[in-house]
Amino acid sequence: MTPIAKTLPLNFSHPPEMIEFWQRLAREALSLSAPTPFYVFSALPIAEKISELDAALVAAGFKSEIKNLKSPVGFKHFLSFKTQPVASLLRWWQGQGRSIEVVSEFELRAALAEGFAPENILVNGPAKLWLAQFDLRELSVNFDSPAELAALLPLAKKLNWRCGVRILTGEEFDPENPPFPTQFGFTPDGAVAALKKLLRAKTRVETVHFHLRTNVSAVAIYERAIAEVAEICRAAKFRPLHLDVGGGIPVQNVLSRGGKVYDGEFGLRSFAKMLRQSAKLFPGLREVWLENGRFVSAGSGVLVVKILDVKARRGLRQLICDGGRTMNALTSLWEQHALMPLVERGGVQVLTAIHGPTCMAFDQLARIPLPRSLSAGDHLLWLDAGAYHLPWETRFSHGHAAVFWQDENGLRQIRARQSFENWWSPWT
Ligand SMILES: Cc1ncc(COP(=O)(O)O)c(C=O)c1O
Repeated sequence: MTPIAKTLPLNFSHPPEMIEFWQRLAREALSLSAPTPFYVFSALPIAEKISELDAALVAAGFKSEIKNLKSPVGFKHFLSFKTQPVASLLRWWQGQGRSIEVVSEFELRAALAEGFAPENILVNGPAKLWLAQFDLRELSVNFDSPAELAALLPLAKKLNWRCGVRILTGEEFDPENPPFPTQFGFTPDGAVAALKKLLRAKTRVETVHFHLRTNVSAVAIYERAIAEVAEICRAAKFRPLHLDVGGGIPVQNVLSRGGKVYDGEFGLRSFAKMLRQSAKLFPGLREVWLENGRFVSAGSGVLVVKILDVKARRGLRQLICDGGRTMNALTSLWEQHALMPLVERGGVQVLTAIHGPTCMAFDQLARIPLPRSLSAGDHLLWLDAGAYHLPWETRFSHGHAAVFWQDENGLRQIRARQSFENWWSPWT
């Protein structure tokens, strides 16, 4: 098999070694009789993204997570569970002694099952009344509303939770309807009241938190949000130990369907410098917490589909594949990813739509120029499938895809393709 670098789509900036890396893993999975469609995920790109972020933070003057340098302010990465709920990823991350952020009962149970100690688990998200059934000491919990706080405060005291407050800053809005706020966190006044209440109750209140949205386009947006949070802390006479800036660092190598480069105006180094500067607004701060999902894991996976049928009409070639948007890649509704044949195919490129097998025109991964010589039996790779693909996969007319995982121990199948029996079994 020959590499396909020549058919690399324009507008994406993956280094050729990265493309070759995924081709090699896809071929290796196929050689293990992988049934398409399947995902291949790898720990390596995640380790690289964390190193990239660490290098920027340490260069900006933060204390390294590993080396104990002089700077008084450190940082900590939390794995965003919801972004990529893969057991092998959790085990790999936990094996490095790192921490995890969960937002539901199931995520908390899974984190505990995979060996995370409660003190390495941060619980976020709205309406966490389900937390009352757990008897876990030293959990980190970011409260989201007055009612939630009132309900859980006795437990927070009893179990010595490390409490935090999520704040709805002026920078947070519904990205689809910017005039409207999101449903998360306390209003600024509400946050002051919540912090005072936690202090009065003599709980272990340590953290102020915001999460703006995904793909935050500019560093200045975070900077303004942090300044607002610092004001709130002053008003509440509260000195946090931790500033939790959530996730939201924009993804690399992915475009919006309209062609926007998500990270076009975002620099990691200036982000790190801004964080270091802004940390000075919080006397006594010990750590900045980061919960990046998309930035950390988007590049850690590919979706592999096989062409089953080919049609051509009204000037459009159509490839009907065994996987696609509806089942495996909902993000293709608003994102363009690099998409390419596994094996180089030459000849004229023609406008080609790549469809999944479900009975919906909606099931279309992309409409891009591809070689006319592509035919049934060929495989296609959809890159950057390592974030928000698995959480949004469906069982629409078909079963879930197989999943492969690669780490220091090599490549292996970690989830079989869903069988008919399993697909139909939830019904009583
Ligand atoms: C509280 C919180 N933290 C972190 C994240 C991860 O966000 P991203 O994938 O944009 O980095 C999310 C995503 O929804 C979130 O809600």
